[in-house]
Amino acid sequence: MLTKRSVYLDHSATTPTDPRVVEAMLPFFTADYGNSASAHSYGRKAEDAVETARETIAKVMNCSPREIIFTSGASESNNLAIRGAAWKAGQGSHLITTAVEHSAVINTVNQLTDVMGFESSYLPVDSQGSINPSDFEELYRLATAIVSAMLVNNEVGTVQPIADLADYAKAKRVYVHTDAVQAAGQLSLDVHQLGVDMMSLSAHKFYGPKGVGLLYLRKGIDLYPSQTGGSHEEGRRAGTLNTPGIVGMAKALELAYQEREMRINHFRALRDQLIDGVLSRIPDVVLTGHPTNRLPSHASFLIDGLDGNSLITHLDLRGVAASSASACKTGNPEPSSVLLAMGYSPKEALGSLRLTVGLQTSPEDIDYTVDILGDVVARLRKLNAAFQLTSMT
Ligand SMILES: Cc1ncc(COP(=O)(O)O)c(C=O)c1O
Repeated sequence: MLTKRSVYLDHSATTPTDPRVVEAMLPFFTADYGNSASAHSYGRKAEDAVETARETIAKVMNCSPREIIFTSGASESNNLAIRGAAWKAGQGSHLITTAVEHSAVINTVNQLTDVMGFESSYLPVDSQGSINPSDFEELYRLATAIVSAMLVNNEVGTVQPIADLADYAKAKRVYVHTDAVQAAGQLSLDVHQLGVDMMSLSAHKFYGPKGVGLLYLRKGIDLYPSQTGGSHEEGRRAGTLNTPGIVGMAKALELAYQEREMRINHFRALRDQLIDGVLSRIPDVVLTGHPTNRLPSHASFLIDGLDGNSLITHLDLRGVAASSASACKTGNPEPSSVLLAMGYSPKEALGSLRLTVGLQTSPEDIDYTVDILGDVVARLRKLNAAFQLTSMT
């Protein structure tokens, strides 16, 4: 029997806040608590901190500080980009996205389409979850206002060819938005290299605090705000700025890009150890997503004959925190639409498992996880076989 460990392998869901980030944030909860919109010295101190954070972030993204709009996270940023561009273009305009986006994009596009009079089309993906940028030309219409495609898929880790897609879109003067939530901290966020007009980030995915994010909005683009109220963020997003959160996000992003090489080497080595261990030791398992063009920290699998819900529950009992695209709290898992779009059957898609490594993960954690996963899979398969036998008699 293995000695039980606690292994957190769900860094794509969220990361712990780096203690250096917490330290940078603390004064803005206590001594320096002013509202950055206030005209007195307390307000100016908060405003200075926000503007310094904006400059730090702008350097990482190779953009102007004024092109950054602070939000409550990527869900809000995605809403602002897509709704803002669609509303500005006017009812009846057309939106393009991909078949594998996060629900913050898909549900926004669906609502605009189903109840607000807009039209939409979806770029398909291949069996590894990659879009083909030239498909844009087939979906493009004169009324197309925006194309929104994620930089890295959260379920299967595939990196999308956003710069190529942007070339096609720019040729037709269509705005390009990317949800870069999963890429942040690992891939380049240089908006000029990516060729994007808008980009969403969320701080808690790169060792920053929860509840704060941003939208990069290229200078000259005029969106309708999706959240109206005061004139914060130059009228583009109403609401008192989350000074501690913004300071923490800037610190986390700065650290991530200062330490990027060390971090991605660490992630890659552990991810490859995990993928090799799982594929070589556990039968009837496949890797999902692109085998090489994937996020350094991301491993995802389909475990034949099992469902993700029971897998993650049993892994949790043995100390391993994982996730599954088909996990749900109602006992009635739905197959992941991402895996269906990649061509897997609903039955295959139910067996999805995502394991994402982080800064604190060790090679021993990976050895333990492979052992535990092998054991859990063997036991659940045995149980299923026994259940099938008894239900036949
Ligand atoms: C790809 C992607 N987009 C958007 C989000 C939403 O981020 P938040 O919940 O921080 O708003 C997530 C979070 O899981 C994500 O993975």
